[in-house]
Amino acid sequence: MKNFITHLPKVELHLHIEGSLEPELMFELAKRNKVDIPFDTPEEVRKAYEFDDLQSFLDIYYKGANVLIHEQDFFDLTWAYMLRCQEDNVVHSEIFFDPQTHTERGIAFDTVINGISKALDKANKELNISSQLIICFLRHLDEAAAFETLQQALPYKDKIIAVGLDSSEQGHPPEKFARVFAKAIEEGFLTVAHAGEEGPAQNIWDALDMLKTSRIDHGVRCVEDPHLVETLAEQQIPLTVCPLSNIKLKVFKDMQQHNIVSLLRSGVCVTVNSDDPAYFGGYMNDNFYALADTHELTKQEIAQFSINAINASFIAPVAKEDLISAVRSYTASH
Ligand code: HPA
Ligand code: ZN
Repeated sequence: MKNFITHLPKVELHLHIEGSLEPELMFELAKRNKVDIPFDTPEEVRKAYEFDDLQSFLDIYYKGANVLIHEQDFFDLTWAYMLRCQEDNVVHSEIFFDPQTHTERGIAFDTVINGISKALDKANKELNISSQLIICFLRHLDEAAAFETLQQALPYKDKIIAVGLDSSEQGHPPEKFARVFAKAIEEGFLTVAHAGEEGPAQNIWDALDMLKTSRIDHGVRCVEDPHLVETLAEQQIPLTVCPLSNIKLKVFKDMQQHNIVSLLRSGVCVTVNSDDPAYFGGYMNDNFYALADTHELTKQEIAQFSINAINASFIAPVAKEDLISAVRSYTASH
């Protein structure tokens, strides 16, 4: 099964590029940019990655991003992730970035997006890995700040497919950003949002109704509302689920308790993703291995996660069909 997972073509739909900052690169950039970090070794950093909930993670995650200053830093960060995609046989990735984490520190929006985009172009040419970019608004900041960020993104419409919503879900429901998302849609962006990670099932309904999202990031708390689960299955509204993240942030007690497999069997379009792999202990393959280790999954079910991700992606319809064929023939030959 491990071998089957390793070589299965995969699509990632929930990855925060700032969350792929490995401690080694954090140290290298801290040195290069003369930024102080409160650790002596990368091992020490890893040991500090024990979280009680989403907020305790976010506090450390935003501090880690302080080492990212120049365009080259954003390039190096993104290139390192694309090399990990190659290793894990991820053939397409839809990547979140948080402009406000950087613009709040005086880093220009252009610096961030140019560094990221150059690495994505290189990966497309040299590694044959395709990608899309999604800008996320930080929901703990106010509506005006989100509008300002949307404004900064307008000149980069050709590089950004969608807008999203991340950071602290508790106390910052979807409705806070309904007007910003309406404007984003008017400007031609697709929309996604984190909902039902720590927040209630109602946030999923509200993200769909008020933000018109094409899919829901996390969404695992949908099970608290059986009518919602039925609707998600009937309308094939995708959930970008992140198993290792959910265990690290204590959304579930352990992987056995995780509901992704039962959602799959209920017909919900669930996908497997790594979220913030440098912080949560693994990239795409590790997330799949962890599920296969704790749940009795067939190869067809594992392949279905990949097919779901292809269907849930923003890839052009013809290319989707080619990818689905590739997954089906891979599965048939194993
Ligand atoms: N949830 C909310 N905000 C985030 C996450 C997440 O999983 N990762 C990075 N920012
Ligand atoms: Zn996330």
